[in-house]
Amino acid sequence: MDNTIKAELLSEKQSEYMSLIAEIMEIRKRGEKPLAFIRTYGCQQNVADSEKIKGMLARSGFDFTDTPDDADFILFNTCAVREHAEDRVFGNVGALKNIKRRHPQILIALCGCMMEQEHVANRIYNSFPFVGLVFGTHSLHHFPELLYSALVDGRRVFERGNDDKKLYEGFPVRRDGSFKGWLPIMYGCNNFCTYCIVPYVRGRERSREKDVILSEARQMIKGGFKDITLLGQNVNSYGKTLEDPVTFAELIREIDSIDGDYWLRFMTSHPKDCSRELIDAIAGGKHISKHLHLPFQSGSDRILKAMNRHYDRKKYLDIISYAKERIDDVSLTSDIIVGFPGETYEDFKQTLSLIREVEFTSLFTFIYSPRKGTPAAEYDDPISAEEKGKWFKELLDVQEEIAAKRCSSMVGKTERVLIEGVKEKTGELNARTSGNIIVELDGGQDLIGTFQKAKITKARNWILKGELV
Ligand code: 5AD
Ligand code: SF4
Repeated sequence: MDNTIKAELLSEKQSEYMSLIAEIMEIRKRGEKPLAFIRTYGCQQNVADSEKIKGMLARSGFDFTDTPDDADFILFNTCAVREHAEDRVFGNVGALKNIKRRHPQILIALCGCMMEQEHVANRIYNSFPFVGLVFGTHSLHHFPELLYSALVDGRRVFERGNDDKKLYEGFPVRRDGSFKGWLPIMYGCNNFCTYCIVPYVRGRERSREKDVILSEARQMIKGGFKDITLLGQNVNSYGKTLEDPVTFAELIREIDSIDGDYWLRFMTSHPKDCSRELIDAIAGGKHISKHLHLPFQSGSDRILKAMNRHYDRKKYLDIISYAKERIDDVSLTSDIIVGFPGETYEDFKQTLSLIREVEFTSLFTFIYSPRKGTPAAEYDDPISAEEKGKWFKELLDVQEEIAAKRCSSMVGKTERVLIEGVKEKTGELNARTSGNIIVELDGGQDLIGTFQKAKITKARNWILKGELV
């Protein structure tokens, strides 16, 4: 079966729409720049999508504001991965009603994963009449046209369910950061883990051409980016939809060969596709950070099967032990779901024992949240929310102990860190190690965006204190 997906370019027509919007807004604002307020929920994929939207808005004459009341255009880029994320969006959208009352000319828009779900788009249509534009993750390539219709025709524009097998290039990108940036290498997911909404809202897996990625990476490195994260739902299966297939390990080796002073990271990896070749590439890399984010979700084989994860505990632990053997002082992180339907306390204990065995630097832990349209949402789920909450707390306690141990083992060592910013409360600098561990230290703000050497002096759970060397 030919599963090749070729990229198309953002069309000329969309460029024309961007120019038209700029002209119209200039007249409406009497020469003043129109302002956009963009809020992004959820994962880095959404952050990267918002950077494309901001690029298109900048081309359409917009500047950006952090104050919704000053904006001409408000956009929320939404996340559907858990119910809690959706509830927050609904709550915050409700609050926009008053802004619309104060400034009736404002255009309020919603986009992203939530909007690809029919029941959500319908609820927005019926219950939030002040929302003028809604589009899903598959509509970015004609956002200028949608924005034009909503701004100029004054009618409500709702669009979702565009072709989820297409890939577009040629977006103007306006990156949020100047030294830490995201580089999408693929979109979508074919795995259909039974709890996960992502394949339904982000469509089929499709990889960007290697040369496009390499040239974007070169541009970022030349532009002073020090910390570049390659993004994809499952980066280990990169390259499968290309005319000339490439493995992810090959891709990172090629990026790694670009000269410059930078760190290369990637997320997210799937244990079923995590090859020894990839671990060797990390071990042998000059710029590749010694960090592997490898979500295992559950330590119980029975639950992994019910989750449709295609690996078992043994396979996971084999990869981890190979990574520990090959990569000096490797920093391991993971995602875990507690309370998957049918999970018993015995299963949960397997998760606890796995985290004790691996000793992760840090964990992203979630209580299972049923997502409409996914298989697991139909499974029997007899364990009460209260009980799951207790397990969750137990997991956090165990991880805290492990992280504290892991971090205290670093005291006395000297680490290369990237200074990322200032901690508001204390005025200390925030830095990060190659293994993605936070280090707090004293120093001048002129160091932000530079690599420094830090001696680790103290450990507090998963945060380190250090001194500049
Ligand atoms: N409920 C809870 N957590 C989920 N995740 C994905 N879907 C769900 C869900 N329905 C978690 C997984 C994934 C991370 C991004 O979010 O752990 O790795
Ligand atoms: Fe969701 Fe599984 Fe795809 Fe990750 S690999 S996005 S958890 S379906």
